[in-house]
This record gives sequence, C-alpha cells and structure tokens, in this order.
Amino acid sequence: MAVTFVPRETAAGETRVSAVPETVKGMLKLGLTVEVERGAGEAAGFADAEYESAGARLVGGEARGSADIVLGIQPPPPADAKAQKAGSLLICTLVPGVALDTTKALCDAKVTAMGLEFMPRITRAQKMDILSSQATCGGYQAVLLAAVHLPKMFPLMMTAAGTLTPARVLVLGAGVAGLQAISTARKLGAVVEANDIRPVVKEQVESLGAKFVDTGTPPDAETKGGYATETTQEFLKKQRDILTEHITQADVLITTALVPGKKAPRLVTSDMRRGMKPGSVIVDMAAAAGGNVEGTVAGERVVVDGVTIIGDTNLPAQVAADASRTYARNVLAFLGEFVKDGTPNVDMENEILGAVTIVHAGAVRHEPTAQALAAKGN
Ligand code: NAI
Repeated sequence: MAVTFVPRETAAGETRVSAVPETVKGMLKLGLTVEVERGAGEAAGFADAEYESAGARLVGGEARGSADIVLGIQPPPPADAKAQKAGSLLICTLVPGVALDTTKALCDAKVTAMGLEFMPRITRAQKMDILSSQATCGGYQAVLLAAVHLPKMFPLMMTAAGTLTPARVLVLGAGVAGLQAISTARKLGAVVEANDIRPVVKEQVESLGAKFVDTGTPPDAETKGGYATETTQEFLKKQRDILTEHITQADVLITTALVPGKKAPRLVTSDMRRGMKPGSVIVDMAAAAGGNVEGTVAGERVVVDGVTIIGDTNLPAQVAADASRTYARNVLAFLGEFVKDGTPNVDMENEILGAVTIVHAGAVRHEPTAQALAAKGN
C-alpha cells in the first residue's frame, strides 16, 4: 500500500492544499495510505481534525522522506525535492523551466516528477485539468477584486436618488478564466464586452450575455489542442487599434490572454491605458507571464494616472477553499488513472502519464527544460 504525503505548502502566499478531507476518502478507496502534514489545510479552511476523521494520519514534515507519493500545489524547494526517496513520485505543478534547481534536485534524487500543468487537454483528462479548475477560480476572483477596487457599483440601479448606470467591463482573452470572468461580471450586473483571437470563442462569449469585440482571426490562430498561437506584430497592432476605443469606455479591464510557452501578448500599451477614466481598474491575469498590459507589476497593485493595475499572480489562492477542493479532485482523478489496489503503475506509454511526467529515472523528459538545464551547465 503506497503511502501518500500531503505537505503544508511553504511558498510565499500559497494558501491552497493539494488534498482535502473529501479526497482523502477517495485516496483511501484507491487503497492508498494517506499522511497529512499538520496544518496543511489550515489556510484553506480545512482543520487537521477533519483530515483525521476522513482517515488520514497527521504527520510532521519529515514524513516526506519515507512517502511513496508526494502531492503538492507549488514545486517544492530543492531541499524538499532531495528529501524524497529514490523511485518515489511527486505530483504537483512543476513550472520546470522556472524551478530549474528543483528539477535538477529531482533528477539527482531519482524522483519521478509529474507536472499537472502538462495535462493533455483531451476529454478523458478534463476531470484532471488543474489549469481549468484554477483558472475558473482566478477568473471569478479577478472580477471580485475589480469590483472592490472600483469606486462605482456594478449593476444598473434605479433609486430614489436617481439612476446609476452599470459598470462596463472589458475582458481580453476569453479562455477558461476569461469566460468565468464574463459570467461573474454579468451576474453582478455589469455590461460586458470580450475579445479573443480564436474564432470559436465568439459564440461562447455571446451565450454568456456579453458582446464580442471582433478584432479578426490571424491565420492558424488555434492549435490542435485548442490553444492560441502567437500572432504577428502587425496583427497585434491592428488588434490594439480596434480595442483602444473599447478600453477607453471600460470601467474595468480584465486581461487573461496567454500563449503557452511564450511571453503574454502585449494587448494594452500605456497610451491606450491613458484613455481610461481615473478610478478605473485593470486586473492583469497574465502578470506572471509578463503581463498583457504595459505598466503591470507582477505581484503588486499599482496606481498609474489614477488607474489601479492589479498584478496579483496567485488569484486562486485568494479563494483557497474552493481552489483546493477542485485541485484536490483533479489530483484524485489523476491518481485513479494509474493507482490500482494501493499500487501505482507508472506506465510512460499511457497518454496522460507520458505527457505529465517531466522527470523520470534521473532524466528530464521535457525538452525545453532539458535544454535550459544544459545551458546552466547541468
Ligand atoms: P490560455 O490560458 O492559454 O489563454 C487564455 C486565452 O487567451 C485563450 O482563450 C486564448 O485564445 C487567448 N489569447 C491568446 N492570445 C491572444 C491575443 N493576442 N488576443 C486575445 N486573446 C488571446 O487558454 P485556456 O483558458 O487555458 O484554454 C484555451 C482553450 O483550451 C479553451 O477555451 C478550450 O477550447 C481548450 N480547453 C480544452 C479542454 C479539454 O478539452 N480538456 C480543457 C480546457 C480548455
């Protein structure tokens, strides 16, 4: 029976946890033994006692060293990666090209490391898709943050003191996070517009009651996996020209545009932002990938020319209970893919396991990361 360890996250600002009492029960059903580090769920609202009643054993951090499977949200620091025993599994988000020291430590320790952000976007893996579950939480939270910072209310209100017009929200990038932002802003009563370069998005935006701002579709806008591709500078310029007028009218701008493996497209220049009214709010959900908006500072909230630009890089951690719950359900579904009767069967021929396994038997299986490590002299 493999022992699964659920750590207390140590990264700054990380309040989520990779297993919740409900999923502990599911892991036990898979035949796993579950050990939870004391206090692991505290910041997300899950008490030690709840894990214990679900059937987990409460342990100290040193239990990582004897576990067969270690779960997590963020990549562990190199020292924690080294503490794992050879042949054990690590299942978390790895950001391998960024957390290179951790990747190197995982190779040295002969840990098999699985990065859940590499989950293939196929129907069978939808229930394991942490990018979608966390983007849903992030898109929701982005709207609430904007609403709190905006000196105006979202809905149309007819009061004895006269009519108040609704807030105007513009969402750039209408993937999972953007669609959730549209839906949340509509529920709060805002008038919403949205833009994306993938042609399938128009109908989805309109079905949520928002207006689609059409800036055209670049050739080969979408990969087979449903992701956007990088556009030319010429296309971006045309897109910015069309968006400028809509940005000027918006009280709230939420940007979510990402192109996997690339810097986020720069959709809003300082000149465009200068057209916004003082008091307007921008939430740049692409902040960690370089930002869609010129002037965004990753991890900070700044006010430029009266416009608040929010560059928070971990919005799901601000709704930690539900973000943890959905992440943990994704993890449980993933474990169900390869754990039978308490024993993991790590088969690289399995389409899902093959895609998410980044380090195995001392080698990096993710080409860009292997190249980045080699460039660092490893
Ligand atoms: P993402 O987080 O990589 O990007 C966010 C959005 O930014 C995307 O909609 C993208 O088209 C848009 N974008 C990129 N460059 C842009 C530009 N220059 N201007 C405007 N918008 C731009 O994407 P996300 O949200 O993770 O998902 C993208 C799509 O993947 C989904 O809409 C869906 O079609 C597909 N998907 C499939 C799943 C499955 O079948 N298991 C699960 C989740 C998503």
